[in-house]
Amino acid sequence: MKLNEAKGDWALVTGASSGIGQEFAIQLARAGMHLVLVARRRERLEALALNLQQDYGVQTRVIAADLTERDQAARVHAELSRDGIKVRLLCNNAGSGRWGRFESTAAVDYERMNALNTSAMVAMCHCFFEDLKSFPSSAVINVSSPATYQPVPYMAVYAASKAFVQSFSQALHGEWKEHGILVQTLVPGPTASEFDELAGAYASALLGRGRPGAVASASLAALAGGAPVVTVAKGIYKQRVFAGLAPSSMVIREVAKMFKPPV
Ligand SMILES: NC(=O)c1ccc[n+]([C@@H]2O[C@H](COP(=O)([O-])OP(=O)(O)OC[C@H]3O[C@@H](n4cnc5c(N)ncnc54)[C@H](OP(=O)(O)O)[C@@H]3O)[C@@H](O)[C@H]2O)c1
Repeated sequence: MKLNEAKGDWALVTGASSGIGQEFAIQLARAGMHLVLVARRRERLEALALNLQQDYGVQTRVIAADLTERDQAARVHAELSRDGIKVRLLCNNAGSGRWGRFESTAAVDYERMNALNTSAMVAMCHCFFEDLKSFPSSAVINVSSPATYQPVPYMAVYAASKAFVQSFSQALHGEWKEHGILVQTLVPGPTASEFDELAGAYASALLGRGRPGAVASASLAALAGGAPVVTVAKGIYKQRVFAGLAPSSMVIREVAKMFKPPV
């Protein structure tokens, strides 16, 4: 999908109230797309919407939604359909993580994380299929993580949820190509956002974070080429070779050393 051909059409970004999602919203507005902004913090979305209208002259819609709730994707879609808004670019960016020992996070928090990172993404894709199909070309961006490429002790559920994202999104790429819908799996490297603090990342691990703007721009620049996977993470090739070729016991041991909570 060529972004310049989507000028005046609608993009929807989940998790637009912060970090990578906020940058997606800004860059899509700069490209002339109207924006549907989805997250829980309405005030943040409204402030962003006002800026996008003033700075780029685009239309905006704010929908405050907790995507861990089962019916929210359908509600978002119904609300937009009522107003005749069809989404041409769907960016499933909202996500959360948790660092630390598996047993030290409540099971209900893992349920929410899985609901947000996996089920909400599936539901959004499902609800917006007819919208996306109605355009000559359209796109879905599903945000994954380098954690997808191997198990991550002390971040076990998050890594597993992103492995789901990676597999699901690439499979959907294969299915939806024939409808003119590009499904891009986006793999950002460690990025400066609210994610680390909310996930309880250890201070020792917070070196070398990239900019959210660089992640969004690499993803959008790659849309025209139709790549199924876009990686914005340094050292990913080495990581994938190691994870793919080294014995599992060695991979698990080495990754555990990197993520083990400090005493
Ligand atoms: N930062 C990194 O190092 C990194 C690396 C690889 C991949 N990623 C992935 O990149 C994506 C964006 O993360 P980020 O770094 O930009 O983190 P962030 O700054 O924490 O942003 C997360 C966004 O998700 C929204 N969100 C969280 N829970 C939600 C819920 N229940 N319902 C609806 N929206 C919800 C948040 O908004 P509200 O709180 O207002 O709801 C926020 O806008 C995530 O999928 C993450 O897994 C991040």
